[in-house]
Amino acid sequence: MNNSSLLFGVMSGTSLDGIDIVLINQNNKTINIIDFIQIPYNENTKKEFLALHTGQHSDLEHSIRLSLFHAKITANGIKKILKKNKLQTKDIKCIGYHGQTIRHYPKNGYSIQLGNANLLAELTNITVVSDFRNRDIVAGGQGAPLVPAFHNEYFFKKNKNRVIINIGGISNITYLPVNKKITGFDCGPGNILLDHWIKIHHNKNFDHIGRWAKSGKLIEALLLKLQKDSFFKKIPPKSTGRELFNIDWLNKFYVKNYPPEDIQRTLLELTVVTINNAIKIFCSSVDEIYICGGGSKNKFLIERLEEITGRNIDTTDKLNIPSQQVEAIAFAWLAKKCIQKKYNNSPTITGASGPRILGTIHYS
Ligand SMILES: Nc1ncnc2c1ncn2[C@@H]1O[C@H](COP(=O)(O)OP(=O)(O)O)[C@@H](O)[C@H]1O
Ligand SMILES: [Mg+2]
Repeated sequence: MNNSSLLFGVMSGTSLDGIDIVLINQNNKTINIIDFIQIPYNENTKKEFLALHTGQHSDLEHSIRLSLFHAKITANGIKKILKKNKLQTKDIKCIGYHGQTIRHYPKNGYSIQLGNANLLAELTNITVVSDFRNRDIVAGGQGAPLVPAFHNEYFFKKNKNRVIINIGGISNITYLPVNKKITGFDCGPGNILLDHWIKIHHNKNFDHIGRWAKSGKLIEALLLKLQKDSFFKKIPPKSTGRELFNIDWLNKFYVKNYPPEDIQRTLLELTVVTINNAIKIFCSSVDEIYICGGGSKNKFLIERLEEITGRNIDTTDKLNIPSQQVEAIAFAWLAKKCIQKKYNNSPTITGASGPRILGTIHYS
């Protein structure tokens, strides 16, 4: 049966670096990437989203305005891709629109992603699927991570126990063992604290290839203290975000008392050891490790991860999905399932009480 469809996937991750838009042609197990663009947030937009992350800033009007703005710039990006590829809206089955997370509180029963799906449908005249996390949460799940199901579909190999690590703002792991059930959960901070620290000290958005971290000395005693946070000890299902790993969390450890480059080095090590611990504890037998997300560009981080795991680590590019595009593609895939009325959550990973169809449909 020809199940081929053109799909857009739109992802804005916790790093607040911007909006990733991918256009794919998906036919069952085959994905062809047609185009991909990244729309970076400017300083002001980033600040506005950041302000809404904390409980003190619950301005409803402000969040609605940002939602509309997010949809507008997404629509412009989509139109640009359509034009460039000489495609029309009627050629597209749907847009999987994740939106920008500003709160993730599964314990309290909700997760908030900004991005006005009605406006995006209106501006593009394409069906939009949004709000992927909340149905899973009200069914008792974490609503995250949602990408392991996609990893399972496209990265599973019959004779290899594979581990997929996504290092975005937060890092998450998917274990795809040959004979056992898949596991997936958030490991802890990925780039979020590293980005934050270099912004304060050097006014840069991120530590290019981990150069600044590499120049610092690891503070072992501090690393041990950071690792004591109860999140790291929690048994999955578990997920996290900026609600926990933020500047207030960091300041509790008196980080200002140390040379800033040593803190950067130690934060990088925290990302590395928490991923390694997740592998050691939850991935009983590992043949291959692949990495995706912006953290895969942090050369020093990958070097340390290779040293600590004792393995060669490739990016998912080697599995034919570019490391920067995995999440956006995953949301295109999740959206298609929603439209087809197929279950697209992973109860064994998120802890939801059963299979559900995630996503709200806004018809073209
Ligand atoms: N060349 C690079 N060197 C180091 N880190 C990088 C590089 N490119 C991207 N990153 C990191 O990746 C992050 C973006 O990753 P991404 O996967 O988009 O995360 P998210 O899904 O949370 O938005 C940036 O904030 C930055 O920390
Ligand atoms: Mg991003």
